[in-house]
Amino acid sequence: MKRVNIGICGLGTVGSGTFNVIRRNLDQINARAQCDIVISHIGARRDNPNCDTGDVKVSRDIFAVPADPEVHIVVELIGGTTVAKELVEAALRQGKHVVTANKALIAEFGNELFSLAAEHDVTLSYEAAVAGGIPIISALREGLSANKIEWLAGIINGTGNFILTEMRDKKREFDDVLAEAQALGYAEADPTFDVEGIDAAHKLVILASLAFGMPLQYDKVFCEGISRIKPVDVEYANQLGYRIKHLGVARHIEGKGIELRVHPTLIPESRLIANVDGVMNAVLVKGNAVGPTLFYGAGAGAEPTASAVVSDIVRVARNLAGKASSLAMVPSLGFSERALQDETILPITEAETAYYLRVSVEDKPGALSRIAQILSDAGISIEALIQKEPHEDEETVPLIMLTNRVVEKRINAAIESIEALDTVDGDVVRIRVESLK
Ligand code: HSE
Repeated sequence: MKRVNIGICGLGTVGSGTFNVIRRNLDQINARAQCDIVISHIGARRDNPNCDTGDVKVSRDIFAVPADPEVHIVVELIGGTTVAKELVEAALRQGKHVVTANKALIAEFGNELFSLAAEHDVTLSYEAAVAGGIPIISALREGLSANKIEWLAGIINGTGNFILTEMRDKKREFDDVLAEAQALGYAEADPTFDVEGIDAAHKLVILASLAFGMPLQYDKVFCEGISRIKPVDVEYANQLGYRIKHLGVARHIEGKGIELRVHPTLIPESRLIANVDGVMNAVLVKGNAVGPTLFYGAGAGAEPTASAVVSDIVRVARNLAGKASSLAMVPSLGFSERALQDETILPITEAETAYYLRVSVEDKPGALSRIAQILSDAGISIEALIQKEPHEDEETVPLIMLTNRVVEKRINAAIESIEALDTVDGDVVRIRVESLK
């Protein structure tokens, strides 16, 4: 069988996972790739105790890997968008195929990197960039290629989902759970990427481009993280029959454009996706032929992510060994570059969802009716309501409401009026609600 040499750059969580999965499953990986895959070069600034690299050549200068004439496929697993970008560019320019798990790199620079790959007649693959081990990229690119995608919604950050799950189930503190997610290797090097939604935004942009056939538009995504979610809201959501999940949503609105948004979301607890817990991810995709589909699996961690990296290596190695022309390979975003079309990304003020509102009101007659009046005047109806008894030492009581679906700019105006009432204390807490039907 033909030999295909791969060079792995980065031996951290995903790099070591990739090395170990290839070593452990090599026979069946080779049988699937129909060639001999050999890890011939590793570029890593330091060794990883989880990896016995044996007699594999190891360079401390990662750029030695793309420069190595023996290496056919460069696997970029260092992360970030500075050195990683230079490395990927160097590899593509030297006519090497590249496999990466780097969502930030693809979301922010994918358009130019895909063009560079095409220019050099090589491929840039990124299955591991979204939802860890779930093969959602190939599902969108190939498995669902018959469909016009109507919308997709996903829990696409494992760290965030782990935090929300532990807060709900074990009443743990946010910071404590985040520290555990870091220790388990789930979190980004800078964990604000996880908790402020940046990581999920990177992934959503990639999914949306694959779903709707448009260039990557990271600068247009609306992004709100989970750092301001309070245990009390998790608890009220439970009482109302909902779970709070950090969701990425991309929806095609006929005649208008695409909603592209990442934010905490209340989902009815009866929905399958509401029960996706811990580090698990799930992506719901609604196609106009297949209907709704749900993809589920580990969203982070060494070997689940390695599973996706290796699937790219297998596909590229098979194509290389079989001398497939680049035309026979599936285009980077599933559509030919010429067919990609810019779509209008709608501002968040045009998005339509239902809302969870928590208002602190003074315990006085008429306080509730003034709020209800403001909502009613705005054409917003209250679908559910919880009002708690005041504690002896407190002058305000929480009022929790679920509204019907409403365009965001309308609820913004109503919230402004509610906050201006003298019977209302502080800001209104609002969380978007999706039924995902
Ligand atoms: N920090 C990411 C997450 C890793 O928690 O989902 C996988 O992309």
